[in-house]
Amino acid sequence: EKGGYDYFMLKEIAEQPKAVADTLLGRIDGAGSLTLDEVRIPANVLREVDKVVIVACGTAFHAGLIAKYAIEHWTRVPCEVELASEFRYRDPILDQQTLVVAVSQSGETMDTLMALRHAREQGAKVLAICNTNGSTIPRESDAVLYTHAGPEVAVASTKAFLTQLVACYLVALYLGQVRGTKYADEIRAVVRDLASISGAVERVLETMEPVRELARSLAGKNTVLFLGRHVGYPVALEGALKLKELAYMHAEGFAAGELKHGPIALIEDDLPVVVVVPSPRGRSVLHDKIVSNIQEIRARGARTIVVAEEGDDAVVPYADHLIRVPVTPTLLQPLVATVPLQVFACELATARGNEVDQPRNLAKSVTVE
Ligand code: F6R
Repeated sequence: EKGGYDYFMLKEIAEQPKAVADTLLGRIDGAGSLTLDEVRIPANVLREVDKVVIVACGTAFHAGLIAKYAIEHWTRVPCEVELASEFRYRDPILDQQTLVVAVSQSGETMDTLMALRHAREQGAKVLAICNTNGSTIPRESDAVLYTHAGPEVAVASTKAFLTQLVACYLVALYLGQVRGTKYADEIRAVVRDLASISGAVERVLETMEPVRELARSLAGKNTVLFLGRHVGYPVALEGALKLKELAYMHAEGFAAGELKHGPIALIEDDLPVVVVVPSPRGRSVLHDKIVSNIQEIRARGARTIVVAEEGDDAVVPYADHLIRVPVTPTLLQPLVATVPLQVFACELATARGNEVDQPRNLAKSVTVE
């Protein structure tokens, strides 16, 4: 049932190109418009939405953090992302014009369920992004956009995360399409680009041997730091979470711009630091800033592991290890940049003799608050 793989996690990592393609299937028509028929929230209600609030836990929360960049950019609607476990206890401001998006692989996470119940009580519309047909969260929501990752068995979420991202982008683009924004051309272009994303993920998977080798060489380390900016910041958080739960190592993700406000004090000789570099096209200022961050930490002894777009030569002199990902539109980069970090964590866990599919103390679905 593991399809020839040693672990479900490896199988599920390998299934990601298909999971991404399946989640897009039937949702983009021949003219390049989105047809999210399942989202039964009428277009006029979506046009009235004045705030989007995303609630989720763990990896799904990281998908939400990335969604915020996409939603605010493409739709110009303010978007908040909140840990479901914190949400209802702070008396959040919600009304009929709030669209709450609850992201959950299992559809059974109690924290997320309680958050959405609270939102509906306040009159907000709730859209679930979920991987499990007929589970509680979509049943209790106004609408659901299913991710088509197929069953995810390994406790650590991989393919579900990528499909959550796809679903979040679809929601962002759809909102933009329904409402009309100044980015209509960009939206059309990104919808076109989504079609090639599955192939890009496939290409990343074909080049993972050096990443596995690197992971094995770091099995004796205690700490790995992850840095990113823009959508690369949540990717850094996700890379760190994967490493904690699988390798039981101290791992932390930071926004690279925060380095000088504290975390740079952690840098010491030979400390592995993974840096997710945004595309040099588009947000080029951010790219240049992160390149100087890489220089700074390397000058202080860090062992730099740089995830950068193909053709990005500026990072080469400062990368002790370079992991290439295909060129994508800026906002879509997490779909390719996350994959090497999953492989990295899985291989490190194996090298440390850990149980990959069933990490200690964790359950696949957390049905208690
Ligand atoms: C991490 C992981 C967890 C889940 C979280 C939410 O790899 O799997 O952090 O993402 O427990 O679960 P769902 O998406 O089922 O609500």
